[in-house]
Amino acid sequence: MSDVTTTAPRTSRAVRRAIEHMTVEQALLSRRSVRAFLPTPVPRDDIEHLLELAARSASNSNCQPWQVHVVTGSVKTRLTSELLAAHDCEDRVSTREYNYQPKPNEWAEPFRTRRRRFGESLYGNALGIAATDSAARLAHHRRNYDFFGAPVGIILTVSRNPLDGALVDAGLFLQALMLAARGAGLDTCPQASFIDFYPVLRRHLDIPDDQLIVCGLALGYADNEHRLSRHHTPREAVASFTTFYEDSP
Ligand SMILES: Cc1cc2nc3c(=O)[nH]c(=O)nc-3n(C[C@H](O)[C@H](O)[C@H](O)COP(=O)(O)O)c2cc1C
Repeated sequence: MSDVTTTAPRTSRAVRRAIEHMTVEQALLSRRSVRAFLPTPVPRDDIEHLLELAARSASNSNCQPWQVHVVTGSVKTRLTSELLAAHDCEDRVSTREYNYQPKPNEWAEPFRTRRRRFGESLYGNALGIAATDSAARLAHHRRNYDFFGAPVGIILTVSRNPLDGALVDAGLFLQALMLAARGAGLDTCPQASFIDFYPVLRRHLDIPDDQLIVCGLALGYADNEHRLSRHHTPREAVASFTTFYEDSP
């Protein structure tokens, strides 16, 4: 396979028009994790175009350590049904390829509080699920494995060697892909929940042993009528995470 892109991508007119009209700022401000999608399919040429844009991401010495697995149609349906079976298995042992996040009681402040507020906002305000209703919470969580109804499921992997740098590069790729999608009028949801069931992914997809599964990504058109479309996440003020070192005026 050639390392250089020589041909112009065959992108659909709708996506070209959307890309022409959205600024980077608009893409950044309008991106959110969408958890309810329409079944409207996304043409393969459009997906390839988004991946070409995301592949412009910076990486250590231009190593481009990422690989992408795109599932649609019956392949996605079969993957989902096996993931759900694994999820619903009562004696399941949750194993992960890497520790994306600590165990619930091991979060440090201020992240513990932000995480709790996020849960209250998503489950309580947006979905109307009581904090004590663990069955309803679980039912929502299960929807992760259906990519929240998105027609396109993406699994992102990176080289295990060197891993730490590759994970940084994967993050850049993921963000670029999400912004490219937004620019094309599409929405996404990054999903670490897939790494809990990595053996299922490895059974269904052709993932080399030297690649680590980073996360999944749902891709499609948002269902803006769904009550979850009201869910928006706040951000800390710039002053809370930035220190300026500068000459006094
Ligand atoms: C790497 C990564 C993994 C994530 N995994 C999940 C997931 O498994 N399920 C989910 O619903 N949201 C997941 N999220 C979405 C976050 O909850 C979301 O980005 C955060 O709450 C901020 O909200 P926003 O993306 O709408 O701005 C993930 C985000 C990232 C960056």
